[in-house]
Amino acid sequence: MKLPLPPLPTALQPKPKRPGEGERVKPLDQAKEAGIATVDWVDERTSLSGVARWTMFRKVPRGINWFYTLGSATLFAFLSQAVTGVFLAMYYDPSVTHAYESARHITNDVFLGEFVRGMHKWGSTVMVILIFLHMARTFFFGAYKYPRELNWIIGVVLLVLTLTMSFTGYLLPFDQRSYWATVVGVNINGTGPIAGPFLSDFLRGGSEFGATTLSRFYAIHMLLVPGALIALIGAHLYLVARLGTTAPPWLKAESGDGIREERV
Ligand code: HEM
Repeated sequence: MKLPLPPLPTALQPKPKRPGEGERVKPLDQAKEAGIATVDWVDERTSLSGVARWTMFRKVPRGINWFYTLGSATLFAFLSQAVTGVFLAMYYDPSVTHAYESARHITNDVFLGEFVRGMHKWGSTVMVILIFLHMARTFFFGAYKYPRELNWIIGVVLLVLTLTMSFTGYLLPFDQRSYWATVVGVNINGTGPIAGPFLSDFLRGGSEFGATTLSRFYAIHMLLVPGALIALIGAHLYLVARLGTTAPPWLKAESGDGIREERV
């Protein structure tokens, strides 16, 4: 037998309807309404929903496959690097006397520090692998051809910037390995024709490796390159949405004319 529920305190009891009052709206519906009203409020003033629809609800060619997710995977790796990097920057100290100690402190003392540092370290390798795979996909699917040449060129700059992130980030723990590996890397840069010696002088912040080198690498790693990456990823994605996605090459062959791209 089901026992009757204990009576609710008066304050929590549903209030009787007033004359003319409609059906009572449930709190969940009210929350949904509030969400929709907020989005509508922003949209009325910015028309951003049109932009969101334009970028996210695009038609894509028939026959696209998992290889087409590599660009988004690279984007996700970049975002993960950005988020973990912000947390690392809260504890890292880019001075020659404190850099190593602050990195050690992150790993040994800070809550989840080892995890976040590990994510950032392995994430950089993952991003480099993904960017190369994504580049290989666009190359083998002929996505660099007209009208997407500019997006390919932006991609090449993104690749260089991503490698610069890996190179400059490697010095930051300032242990023996990162120090000497970077000395070698900067010297290799110096062997480049014409610009090489200038580039290595610029990276070192003079002719000697020292305190300026570390703060320079930190500024490049934290401000210069991430800023350029964000701007160029924005341009890259704009062009992806503007030009549409390339159909897989075998579908073009099937269409017979060799020029037209199959679209659904
Ligand atoms: C930070 C690095 C990068 C990010 C976040 C990124 C992101 C993306 C995304 C999300 C797409 C659309 C989905 C896809 O086709 O996979 C795309 C397309 C494209 N990407 Fe990248 N990309 C990066 C680097 C590169 C590089 C290094 C290249 C080549 C050098 C490149 C060339 C292209 C081209 C040509 C397209 C158009 C593909 C098509 O129309 O089928 N991207 N990228």
